[in-house]
Amino acid sequence: MAKCQLLLLFLVFLLLAAHAKSCHPDDLRALQGFAGNLGGGGALLRAAWSGASCCGWEGVGCDGGRGRVTVLRLPGYGLSGPVPGASLGGLAQLEELFLGSNSFTGSLPTSLFSLVGLQKLSFESNQLTGQLSTHLQELKNLTLLDLSVNRFSGRLPDVFHDLTSLIHLSMHSNGFSGSLPPSLSSLLSLRELNLQNNSLSGPIARVNFSGMPLLASIDFAANYLSGSLPISIADCTELKSLSLANNQLVGTIPSWIRELVHLRYLDLSNNSLIGDVPKGLTLLKGLTTADRSQRMAFINMPLYVKRNRRTLQQQPNVITGTNNYVRSGDGNTVSGNDNTVISGNDNTVSGSDNTVRSGNKNVLTGSNHVVSGTNNVVSDNDHVVNGNNNVVSGGNNMVTGNNNVVSGSDHVVYGNNKVVSGG
Ligand SMILES: *[C@@H]1O[C@H](CO)[C@@H](O)[C@H](O)[C@H]1NC(C)=O
Ligand SMILES: *[C@@H]1O[C@H](CO)[C@@H](O)[C@H](O)[C@H]1NC(C)=O
Ligand SMILES: *[C@@H]1O[C@H](CO)[C@@H](O)[C@H](O)[C@H]1NC(C)=O
Ligand SMILES: *[C@@H]1O[C@H](CO)[C@@H](O)[C@H](O)[C@H]1NC(C)=O
Repeated sequence: MAKCQLLLLFLVFLLLAAHAKSCHPDDLRALQGFAGNLGGGGALLRAAWSGASCCGWEGVGCDGGRGRVTVLRLPGYGLSGPVPGASLGGLAQLEELFLGSNSFTGSLPTSLFSLVGLQKLSFESNQLTGQLSTHLQELKNLTLLDLSVNRFSGRLPDVFHDLTSLIHLSMHSNGFSGSLPPSLSSLLSLRELNLQNNSLSGPIARVNFSGMPLLASIDFAANYLSGSLPISIADCTELKSLSLANNQLVGTIPSWIRELVHLRYLDLSNNSLIGDVPKGLTLLKGLTTADRSQRMAFINMPLYVKRNRRTLQQQPNVITGTNNYVRSGDGNTVSGNDNTVISGNDNTVSGSDNTVRSGNKNVLTGSNHVVSGTNNVVSDNDHVVNGNNNVVSGGNNMVTGNNNVVSGSDHVVYGNNKVVSGG
């Protein structure tokens, strides 16, 4: 008798275990349909997705109780062919869709825009074409939209009015043309706006940056934007990085730029700005006269109010203290705060608010760094990291590039072959 009860209990347990891992039948059908016709890595995916325990399938995440699929995350799986729109549209409760770094072709299917619960949508680094649909306006819960490095074209639709939850918007390296949609000005939660490397034209002032007071990073470089720098940017008091290089901006470098106290990276090079560099900015970089005309790049803004700046060109050096500046240095050891290393290799940098540009194999500890380059090891918090083969740990980092290893929490990561752990 006891044996019977035990067996029954065991059966119930088995049933529950199986149930916990299987998803809603609609979602099962949708996932099978999604994998069904994919080329490239699709065959591997179909092999991996066998049985009905779809909540346990690779790249699939479900909500706890109801077995509804809320997450589909298959970046870099070599998937190719048109985006299986009808199937994806069947994942009615989907909140996160990460299909970056695959080889999807064709346009974004309209059915995707019926997934109104979507919070994160990334198709970065695919081969998608066509225009961006005006149906985008239906995805009102989006916090992240990344369509960068595709072949989208045409105008950006002026449909951003209601996307007020968006925090990260990246559509760089596409063929978008025409003028900036004024509704971008409504993105009151936005922290990152990257439209770099498109063919956008018309006045940059079509966007009222006052509506995006939390912006930490604006990158409109490599477009055909015209007009003068809009004073509304002065209202973005959290701004850390402003890149407007390679456009057709005119007028002077406004003095209000000095009031952006968090700014650590400013690139206004290759525009048609004229006149003197505002006092303070000149101090910052020791700009030469030639730098004042057509090509201008300023880095690490807080330096301009600081004293004690040393510029070293020899190598190797051991530098301690604050507000140091290393140019083309190799093998330097730098500690302290507010240091700038340009084109330096194999440096060890500790402290806070440091900037390393185009350097290789640097080791950085501390907080609030801006890093680009390759093979860097970065730890602690609040970094902006671009480039390749970086190892980043800590929290609140924004990482773009390839082959990064990121641990810690609250990261935003773009690029390929990342290993991300943490919350
Ligand atoms: C959108 O987000 C709000 C607030 O988090 C939530 O109440 C609502 O259910 C979400 N909408 C959808 C369609 O999931
Ligand atoms: C600019 O975008 C094109 C098209 O996506 C891409 O091929 C190219 O590598 C990008 N250039 C840069 C500098 O990012
Ligand atoms: C920009 O938006 C702010 C409010 O966010 C408003 O006060 C200001 O008048 C607008 N500027 C322009 C030029 O429309
Ligand atoms: C300057 O910017 C324009 C785009 O406005 C670009 O075509 C050109 O290649 C850039 N020149 C340099 C030297 O980067």
